[in-house]
Amino acid sequence: MHSASLTVDPAFRIGAVDPRLYGSFVEHLGRCVYTGIYEPGHPTADADGFRQDVVELVRGINVPIVRYPGGNFVSAYDWEDGIGPVSERPTRIDLAWRSLETNHVGVDEFQRWAAQVDAETMMAVNLGTRGIDAARAFIEYCNHPSGTAWSDRRRANGAKDPYGIKVWCLGNEMDGPWQIGHKNALEYGRLAAETGKAMRLVDPGIELVISGSSHSRMPTFGTWERIALTEAYDTVDHISMHSYYQQHGDDRDSFLAAAVDMDRFIDAIVATADHVRAVGRHSKRLTIAFDEWNVWYQSRFPGEENLPIAEAPALLEDVYSVTDAVVVGNLLISLLRHADRVKIGCQAQLVNVIAPIMTATGGPAWRQSIYHPYALTSRHGRGTVLRLEAQSPTHETAVHGEVPLLDAVAVLQDDDEGLALFAVNRDQHEPMTVDVDLRALPHLTGGEHVAIADDDPDAVNDRDNPDRVAPRRLAEPRPDGGRLQVELPPLSWNLIRLTGRTA
Ligand code: AHR
Repeated sequence: MHSASLTVDPAFRIGAVDPRLYGSFVEHLGRCVYTGIYEPGHPTADADGFRQDVVELVRGINVPIVRYPGGNFVSAYDWEDGIGPVSERPTRIDLAWRSLETNHVGVDEFQRWAAQVDAETMMAVNLGTRGIDAARAFIEYCNHPSGTAWSDRRRANGAKDPYGIKVWCLGNEMDGPWQIGHKNALEYGRLAAETGKAMRLVDPGIELVISGSSHSRMPTFGTWERIALTEAYDTVDHISMHSYYQQHGDDRDSFLAAAVDMDRFIDAIVATADHVRAVGRHSKRLTIAFDEWNVWYQSRFPGEENLPIAEAPALLEDVYSVTDAVVVGNLLISLLRHADRVKIGCQAQLVNVIAPIMTATGGPAWRQSIYHPYALTSRHGRGTVLRLEAQSPTHETAVHGEVPLLDAVAVLQDDDEGLALFAVNRDQHEPMTVDVDLRALPHLTGGEHVAIADDDPDAVNDRDNPDRVAPRRLAEPRPDGGRLQVELPPLSWNLIRLTGRTA
């Protein structure tokens, strides 16, 4: 049995959680849109063709913002293909994922779906094959009230009121050679600045996201951000980050410490953005949109070039285990720990494609293991993040070096509701006793402890066993004299909720 300790003090505030930290991502990729959120003819489909079983599951996560329509898809997407009478829309080859895109779902349908799940849209514009002109027309279509060619087209298509889409991504992963219309950092930075400028002239109230490196192992990592931001710093509000993790071979210890990499990546981007701020004598401080993150078994993907062209093919349908869920919970801890700078997070993606929700075409929808830490953190991790003083045993990992076995963060919940403690035990075999010093929060009383932990760390949910992996309740935590002792099972993600006054 390991021993560790945590000190929680409401004076040590990192920052308020922006609810958009719990965002998600819907790309026209595989079965995310078609037979994921949209399947006319499905027994639960509404008049618009949206699966209501999926809507229910999405509501269970409480997703405040959804990035759309890509991803790599957006870099050759003509948004105009997706408006007007559905029967007149063209079918095109999506070159990013070698799929047939029928355009049956476009911006108007997506806005109706987003309203059903109470989410705002985070819209991406195509800076691969297109640019300033298409982007300014698109935002005029979406956000201008009326009396112009594009806004009146929207009204004619059934949306009288403007959508008021606030957050816009200036392209996607433009540093990646795989991206259609890939650019170097200077080309991209200039284009992002000019596109953003034109979009803001249409709607001054928007927030703009500049594309950062596709991941921290890109050869241009760091340089890309410095050059692109130097061109566009004044125009943009957030810098985008993407990162995916998977277990390599049998090195589970390194995989379980993936959040260490996420922490380091965020710290590096913050430092780079602040460097550009200093050199340019800017007063504004940029924040981060971590708008693609998740576990993704990329090694199982054959590569786009090997895909036959098909309509709504089953792509990237990773099935997630208990271990994956613990890692996802830990990645959320990392995002929370950076709540002062990370304002938007999008788990990639929402349905079927590396997703917490799976569907069978014509059949049921179910929660993957990773759904649970995501939904529970989204529900209880709203408020103010506290910096914890932690003492933890460590171990050596092949990829990240020496890492603590305990990783944790606390959120002082909104409305004086209590405290949520999120904690991971990264040891695969040993449980851990954690002594929590709560003397600075003397009014906290009882609560609950739920965990994702299992005798079989490879257990998964599927159509036949949709609840095989689910949070389980552990012994009720009872603070006593400002002290609390909790036991974290081996290889586990934990939520410890304490109720009572925190002010
Ligand atoms: O989420 C899957 C893909 O990963 C996205 O299309 C792309 O932006 C990233 O490389």
